Amino acid sequence: MPVKSTDEYLQAGIDSNYDRESELKTFDESKAGVKGLLDSGVTKVPRMFHCGQFSLDHERSGRDSQISIPIIDLQGIHDDSIVRTQVIEKVRNACEKFGFFQVVNHGIPVTLLDETINGMRRFHEQNTEVKKEFYSREYGKKVFYQSNYDLYQSTAADWRDTFVYLVPSNAPELEEVVLPAVCREIVKEYSEKVMKLGLDFLELLSEGLGLNPSHLKDMNCAEALLLLGHYYPSCPEPELTIGTKDHTDSSFITILLQDQKGGLQVLHENQWVNVPPVLGALVINVGDLLQLISNDKFISVSHRVLAQHIGPRISVASFFRPHFQAGSRVYEPIKELLSEENPPIYKEIDSKEFLLHYFTKGIDGIPPLQHFKLR
Ligand code: OGA
Ligand code: NI
Repeated sequence: MPVKSTDEYLQAGIDSNYDRESELKTFDESKAGVKGLLDSGVTKVPRMFHCGQFSLDHERSGRDSQISIPIIDLQGIHDDSIVRTQVIEKVRNACEKFGFFQVVNHGIPVTLLDETINGMRRFHEQNTEVKKEFYSREYGKKVFYQSNYDLYQSTAADWRDTFVYLVPSNAPELEEVVLPAVCREIVKEYSEKVMKLGLDFLELLSEGLGLNPSHLKDMNCAEALLLLGHYYPSCPEPELTIGTKDHTDSSFITILLQDQKGGLQVLHENQWVNVPPVLGALVINVGDLLQLISNDKFISVSHRVLAQHIGPRISVASFFRPHFQAGSRVYEPIKELLSEENPPIYKEIDSKEFLLHYFTKGIDGIPPLQHFKLR
C-alpha cells in the first residue's frame, strides 16, 4: 500500500477548497465506476485518484531484461512421475524465490480463457443502467460489482472497477446465486475449471513442502473461492494514478488470468519486475496465508498494476482462501515444517479475524502479516 509522505499530507491540507469526501461520495453514488467517468468524457484524472508518491517512483517501467518470473510447463504432470517431480521442484523454487510464476499447459483451453475475459468485458461494458443494479458495498453478498473496495479508507482511489463473485461451494447454493445474464455460463464454467486447477496445485505445493499431497487441501486451503473480474479503463494521465496499488494477497494462493495488455508488476529484491502476458498462461502467486502456514518458506510478495493509456485491461483473479461467513478456522505454521532451527514465526490465527483485519485494518501501510508475528 503506498504511504503518503508528510509533504503530500501537508499539500492536501493546505488546499482547503478540496472536499475529498464529497468527491468520493459523488463517484460512489454514480454507481458507474471508473468506466462511467470515461464514458462521461473526462480527459483528466480526477483528484481522488491522484497518488502522489507513485508519480515519484522511478522504477515505474519495471525490469524486463535482467529478471523474469518463471514460466512452468505443466504438460505430463499427471502421467509421468519424473516430469511431476521436476515440476514440483520448479514450483518450490519459484515459491521460495519469487512468490510468483506463470503456468502453461495447465489444462484450461485457451479459448475458454479468452471467453472468460470476453465475459468480463461484456459485464463491464453492458448498459450502465443494468450494471448499476449490481453495484454494492454491502459485505456478505455473493455477486456484485464495485469500484475500489477500500474507497473510503485509502489515500488514493485505484483506476479500476471490479466484478465480485464468491463461488458457492455446494450445489444448492449454486442454484441460488444469480449471476449476470451477460456472463453467467462462462463465469460458471471458468470457476469450475479454476477450482480444479487450484486443487491440483495444492497437491504440487504440498509435495513441494515435503508433505503428503493432500495436506493443504485437508487444511481447507481451497475451502472458498473468490473471483474478482477487474476492468482497468484506459487512463488519460497514467502517471498520476495506479490500476491496483501495491499489496499482497490475503489468500493461500491466487490464480490470475490476465489479458494481453500488460501492466502487472511484482516486487523482487526491491525492484519492480514486469509479469509480461503470455498467451494461454495463468499467473499463480503465493498469498499471505500460505506464507504464514509455510512459516516463511514460501513468500507472498507485493504486486501492483500500472494505469496505462491503452485499455481496457481485463483480468480475473481467483483467490483460494477460508470462508469469510462460515465458522472460523484456526491457522498456524504447519507443525511438520517446524524444528529447533526453524521455530514458528507466526502465532495461531483465526481465519475470520485474519480476513477482517486484512480488509479493515490492513490498509494502514503495515504489511498485514506483520501483525501476526510472534516476535
Ligand atoms: C488482485 C491482483 C492483479 C491484476 O486482484 O489481487 O493483484 O492483474 N490483481 O488484476
Ligand atoms: Ni493481488
